[in-house]
Amino acid sequence: MNKPYTFDLIKPDFIPSRYDNHIIRRLSSMKGQYLDQQAYQKMLSHTDRVLYEVYELKRPEIVGELLHGISIVHPGKVGQEFFMTKGHFHTLLETAEVYNCLKGQGVMVMETPEGDWAVEELYPSRVLYVPPCWAHRSVNTSRTDDLVTFFVYPGNSGHDYGTIEQQGFRKLVIEESGQPVVIDNPRWQPTGGR
Ligand code: 6PG
Ligand code: NI
Repeated sequence: MNKPYTFDLIKPDFIPSRYDNHIIRRLSSMKGQYLDQQAYQKMLSHTDRVLYEVYELKRPEIVGELLHGISIVHPGKVGQEFFMTKGHFHTLLETAEVYNCLKGQGVMVMETPEGDWAVEELYPSRVLYVPPCWAHRSVNTSRTDDLVTFFVYPGNSGHDYGTIEQQGFRKLVIEESGQPVVIDNPRWQPTGGR
């Protein structure tokens, strides 16, 4: 359909009044991503919990189109590490993304292939611009609330999960004395993939 369209983001969950794709990511899809592998295995042995969900409005994945939707990261921890998204580079590295936080508390962990990194806070009304070439991962640092963001990115971006699955992010976000703290990822290793 190539006519203008609208949809509503319905409080309290901000689930779009219409969407084309509902992605549900469970603990099992984050194998190897959490620092405390023992805590991960123990949690998985109990339940394959839903960590986050994405509601996408599909558009042709071509130049000029903008893909958009809602990302909802549920609250929780694996060991001391907060629930987070897989994180990814865009296959077409030179493609940016805009996030608008609608609910909750969290951070966006980001890095470039060259080794620059950034961690930006997310809270309602905050807008984040993720420039081209920056991988991005949403982290929910609230004990109780979902972290909900509205995202927009170019239709021809694609998703490269492989690089992050192999090398991880350089920075991790854990809870120390009740506060979110950014630490170096002791298991980060360059794959030379990017
Ligand atoms: C994208 C966006 C965003 C992201 C979700 C889930 O490029 O599509 O960054 O929609 O996909 O927040 O995160 P993961 O894609 O890392 O699982
Ligand atoms: Ni993205």
